[in-house]
Amino acid sequence: MSHISSTKEIPVVNSIPTHVAIIMDGNGRWATKRFLPRVAGHVKGVEAVRGVVEACAKRGISFLTLFAFSSENWRRPAEEVSLLMRLFVSALEKEVTKMHANDIRLKVVGDLTRFDTALQNMIFEAEQKTAKNKKLTVTICANYGGRWDVVQAMNKYRTEIPPDQHITEAQLEPYLSMAYAPEPDLFIRTGGETRISNFLLWQLAYSELYFTDTFWPDFDAASLDAAIESYQTRERRFGRTSAQVTGEISK
Ligand code: IPE
Ligand code: IPE
Ligand code: MG
Repeated sequence: MSHISSTKEIPVVNSIPTHVAIIMDGNGRWATKRFLPRVAGHVKGVEAVRGVVEACAKRGISFLTLFAFSSENWRRPAEEVSLLMRLFVSALEKEVTKMHANDIRLKVVGDLTRFDTALQNMIFEAEQKTAKNKKLTVTICANYGGRWDVVQAMNKYRTEIPPDQHITEAQLEPYLSMAYAPEPDLFIRTGGETRISNFLLWQLAYSELYFTDTFWPDFDAASLDAAIESYQTRERRFGRTSAQVTGEISK
């Protein structure tokens, strides 16, 4: 399935975003504030994921994309990295059956070759099992980087298309790791930082950006509604003037 590219055509805008993408940040600070080890924040963060997945399904959001581990997070202490991996495995073990029962499709994108084979197999099986589900697609970005995504797309493209050919956006897009989804309408970053941190660089071209100080473990359905409310006040112009958007003048 191919989707409308925001730089090629003006996408249809609905009051409920079709695709919400979230940088789940602030787990460590949530824990530190409570004099707990950082890992306690990550454990609590998994619970928040459960709540937000359910809230998105209820609100009719079709795609939810969650940044779980960046290509730069390997720079963290080895102990924290290995705990995050174990949490990922246990979340898959616990949640996939429930997701499947709720008609949720699971996708994991990123450079998965760096994960151990057991985890890679679990991911593959979870994706296979839920592949036909329709209600909501949840994408976990794991060992994901926006630059990696563009470069891996280029490399795949190169193997299939003659090297002397001029590349267009439309030709590259099917090779990007989230080609199955429309571009995010709403981007949320929790935890107070106002940066992209190498998340979906290509796909966020025309997303509405929302930043909140709430730490990820505290982000709940009401927090999601606040973000959607903010989204609903935005005028998505995609390069046009306001008068064109509101229809005061035609084209
Ligand atoms: C986000 O929370 C989770 C991951 C990056 C895996 P952090 O762990 O970055 O939390 P802070 O930013 O240190 O509070
Ligand atoms: C971004 O958070 C990555 C994830 C939430 C997975 P970081 O906490 O790693 O980002 P920086 O280092 O503050 O930019
Ligand atoms: Mg952080």
